[in-house]
Amino acid sequence: MRNVTQRRLRRFLLGAASVGATLAPTLALADDLAPTGRWSANTAGAAQLPPMGWNSWNAFYTDVSEEKVLASAKIIADSGLQAKGYRYIDIDDGWWLKRRQTDGRMIIRTATFPSAKGAGPGGETSFKPFTDRLHALGFKAGIYSDIGRNSCGQVFTSTMPNQPEGTVAEREIGLYGHVDQDIRLYFAEWGFDLIKVDGCGVRGLPATNPAVIAGKYRAFPPIVDPESLGRTNIPAVRALYQEVGDALKRHNPDMDYLYSICLWGSSDVRAWGKNLGNISRTSEDISASWTRMLHNFDTVSRRALYAHPGGWNDPDMLFVGTGDFEMSHLEEARSHFALWAMENAPLFIGYDLRKASKPMIDLLGNARIIAVNQDPAGNQAVLAYDTDDVQILVKTLANGDKAVALFNRNAVPIDAVLTAEHLKFTTDGTIALEDLWTGRKQDFRGEAKMTLAPHQTLIFTARGPRLLTNGLYLSEQPGSVNPAVDGVTVPEHEPLVHRAVSGWNSTRGGGDRPRYGGWGGAQADTTPYGETLQIGGKRFTTGLGVLANSRLEVRNHGFARFTTMVGLDDSARDRSQPVRFAVYGDGKLLQQSKPLRFGDAAVPMSVPVQGVKIIELVVRTAQPMRFPDPATWADAALTR
Ligand code: GLA
Repeated sequence: MRNVTQRRLRRFLLGAASVGATLAPTLALADDLAPTGRWSANTAGAAQLPPMGWNSWNAFYTDVSEEKVLASAKIIADSGLQAKGYRYIDIDDGWWLKRRQTDGRMIIRTATFPSAKGAGPGGETSFKPFTDRLHALGFKAGIYSDIGRNSCGQVFTSTMPNQPEGTVAEREIGLYGHVDQDIRLYFAEWGFDLIKVDGCGVRGLPATNPAVIAGKYRAFPPIVDPESLGRTNIPAVRALYQEVGDALKRHNPDMDYLYSICLWGSSDVRAWGKNLGNISRTSEDISASWTRMLHNFDTVSRRALYAHPGGWNDPDMLFVGTGDFEMSHLEEARSHFALWAMENAPLFIGYDLRKASKPMIDLLGNARIIAVNQDPAGNQAVLAYDTDDVQILVKTLANGDKAVALFNRNAVPIDAVLTAEHLKFTTDGTIALEDLWTGRKQDFRGEAKMTLAPHQTLIFTARGPRLLTNGLYLSEQPGSVNPAVDGVTVPEHEPLVHRAVSGWNSTRGGGDRPRYGGWGGAQADTTPYGETLQIGGKRFTTGLGVLANSRLEVRNHGFARFTTMVGLDDSARDRSQPVRFAVYGDGKLLQQSKPLRFGDAAVPMSVPVQGVKIIELVVRTAQPMRFPDPATWADAALTR
């Protein structure tokens, strides 16, 4: 325990101590790379599979009420969507009235949630009748708060209805300073099962904010700057979210809770959200626009190794049903839904279901596509082909079959070829495809030509002869690989995300800049910077691309041998230090390479791992590096 605290402290001191200070990079320390024999990504809470449900925000914004929420819940039950897996019914922003000053207890807006009136133990407001109602219908109930003192509505959309009322202090309805009290109230007393914790209160209330100057809110010197990782106090943000995670464990002894972190990909949350939360937002809000959907999709599609059973990437809620995804745009609605399913995204309907037509309900209830999202192996899709025009996503299912999606991002038809190599199948065997929209079956060998309509996503399951007959490549099982330390010392913004005109800014300013720290992270089948894996002039289509000074944790599902070809990747730029690859089994060193320099040929490693539960893959340089070079675990595989 003391060691952990000391390590955290050291990292805190090496990292950003406060915004505005000179920021030192968090160089990977020798003790970060030391094997632990443990799986460090979060497994607490109830998110073994990506959660499914409904959330009020995209449908009603702050104009939410008990009547609207229960009407949607009823339709989910009656239409059969509940039986298909949609279980969480979540209230977003807009439920609160004030924080009572005598004891800090949160008071519900009874004008919109009438069943809360007088329902508490001392006649206070309580959501218990509301959550009882949802539970009786077989649902789980979700609530919403903010990590700061104030809400996103107060900071960004204060003209919307149902804003908190009263004095400055009464309107401080966020968790800050009240974490234990509020989490106890929401879970132990009111019976909620999920909380979404937003971050606007620690982002948008500097002393210079006009509403702060006007005396409406207390200033909160921002610790999050979504535009600038350098101006974000990452350890401080993380500590606040950790406090909530700890309180959730305390007040949910049965562990049946879901912790939704909403930091929009800021604060280097990719590196740590997976260790604390059950779902973690990767971007700012989605809107009902095609290009905005592309934007949000791109913030998850290169993060496959950062999603596991227990903690998933969250590209935001579905907008199926509205705008570019409404009835007259069913192709777009289908694409949005299929892509979210492939990415193991939470499937939260964000639609006023009272308006839903039969085709829309059928789309959301497509059991074959839901099964892809809910596949127990928990592998997020990996990009097997990647351009700005077409992407091919492949997801390895628990039974060894693949789900594959061919996605046309553009508004013109385009021809595409699906190859056996994309699927890591052999070119000479028969591959059986089943179209998940139509149920149509077809076979091919080698490659299949297809035409994609504008904005179309073809989605199939594929069964065929595997290239690796007696095991799985690690890049086929991202759900079992955790980049505990990914080697990123100076978090950098992700440049490959589609930059959309935002509905709220239009074309004011200079356009969307790269955001959402993620560049340089561990990757399946490419280098951390999206290049082809290559060692000593030899290319590899399969493998894990990491940075030096990284440590991956791999769950071993009963395999006997780990094999790989290792080396400094040809994309290395610094090249000043050789790298050494080491394989550990349950904390013990099993094998290591000699130091390998730029240009050295790939070196084979073959390591018995029978009976080992956690394999750790560590790449080290002798001295810490500010910008570590890419290092490659090529063809990394577990075999029987
Ligand atoms: C933020 C979140 C949204 C929603 C609103 C509510 O913008 O990202 O998902 O919760 O706040 O105000």
